[in-house]
Amino acid sequence: MIPENTAIPEVVFIGRSNIGKSSLINGLVNRNGLVKTSSKPGHTRMMNFFKIGDKLSLVDMPGYGWKSRDEWGDMILSYLQNRKNLRRIYILVDPSHGLKDSDLQIMKLLDGSGLSYQVVLTKMDRLSRTKYGSSKAEIEAQLVKDAICCFPMVLGVSSRTRDGLDELRAAIVKASQL
Ligand code: GTP
Ligand code: MG
Repeated sequence: MIPENTAIPEVVFIGRSNIGKSSLINGLVNRNGLVKTSSKPGHTRMMNFFKIGDKLSLVDMPGYGWKSRDEWGDMILSYLQNRKNLRRIYILVDPSHGLKDSDLQIMKLLDGSGLSYQVVLTKMDRLSRTKYGSSKAEIEAQLVKDAICCFPMVLGVSSRTRDGLDELRAAIVKASQL
């Protein structure tokens, strides 16, 4: 269920199934059991809205790959295009795998609709600093080349070690005040 458009700013987390969207929302609000997570892809099946007081809503999405792309694209796009108080779309990407075709397709859809997004690399704890650094640089270079409405700064997080969560929180607060 999608709540009616309200005055509360929203930020939304999208990305491939199993990328860590639901875990990230738990990490951001410091409540591990708030959103159900799973090692099996396709766990989150509905959009879920988590209201933080009356200042902000964090929106969890089903991953791509679970629904057919058209179905996913239609559902998400109609939400994204009609949401007056949507302040930013965070696209989660696994730095071990880099940008996948499905990520690039979604970015194209967003670019086509003039919707701004920012890339967040997840599961940083799984890579050495060096590997993480080189993967991030590669992804940034690809974004500069291919993406239009992408916010220039790529962030990195680990919901497991909590690395990067403060920086992401600060970015969300800034975006929610736009
Ligand atoms: P769907 O709902 O299926 O689209 O997946 P999701 O993107 O919500 O992923 P979810 O948060 O359910 O996490 C998927 C798996 O990745 C789970 O087994 C998590 O424990 C694991 N995971 C999530 N975040 C991290 C992280 O920062 N580090 C590590 N090592 N594992 C993580
Ligand atoms: Mg999920």
